[in-house]
Amino acid sequence: MAENHPEHPSATAFLLIALSLISTLAAVESNPFSRNLSPSSLGLKKPEKLSHLHFYFHDVVTGKNVTAVRVAKAPTTTKSSPFGAVAVMDDPWTISPRWIYALASQTEASLLMAFNFAFVEGKYNGSNLSVLGRNPVFSAVREMPVIGGSGVFRFARGYAEARTHTFDLKTGNAVVEYNVYVFHY
Ligand SMILES: *[C@@H]1O[C@H](CO)[C@@H](O)[C@H](O)[C@H]1NC(C)=O
Ligand SMILES: *[C@@H]1O[C@H](CO)[C@@H](O)[C@H](O)[C@H]1NC(C)=O
Ligand SMILES: *[C@@H]1O[C@H](CO)[C@@H](O)[C@H](O)[C@H]1NC(C)=O
Repeated sequence: MAENHPEHPSATAFLLIALSLISTLAAVESNPFSRNLSPSSLGLKKPEKLSHLHFYFHDVVTGKNVTAVRVAKAPTTTKSSPFGAVAVMDDPWTISPRWIYALASQTEASLLMAFNFAFVEGKYNGSNLSVLGRNPVFSAVREMPVIGGSGVFRFARGYAEARTHTFDLKTGNAVVEYNVYVFHY
């Protein structure tokens, strides 16, 4: 009776998996700090919505009303890119983005972007959306993941596409078009 023999590999594996499942369940049950919830208990109603957000950013680095400032600089940099620099920006817009970016490549103008869109009007007023990703600014389209949010954007996920609309090489000022596709409840 090969199937019931304790030395049979699949039977042994099954026993081990069952034992580990039981001990995991026991551990979860005895955890005072975790419990299972149904999504509806948090007011999360399926199906999730897919929203498309479209807006432009005015990134002003030189001139009167600067919206982005460099706050850190690497002691040494390569000639081709200001590698290691960190800037903080607060662009005035319908959607008020608060973000920080770091120049994260030695060979090209590539930014590590970490930014929040704080919605200040419309149906998303008071909610925020967080984006984190790599932004090689001279590429035609840059895709960055939406990693979450707050308010109506709790559990949000998706991606943002950035396209440079205008870029002034002399001043560094830019207008960037954003298309954001996001799943949320
Ligand atoms: C800067 O902001 C002030 C106040 O909002 C405004 O009056 C002025 O026109 C702006 N200047 C430029 C160059 O955008
Ligand atoms: C957005 O929400 C804030 C806080 O609730 C409120 O003060 C403000 O008037 C709202 N803005 C718009 C444009 O609805
Ligand atoms: C969204 O961000 C704004 C500005 O930082 C903050 O005041 C607000 O509380 C945030 N909303 C939520 C739902 O966390």
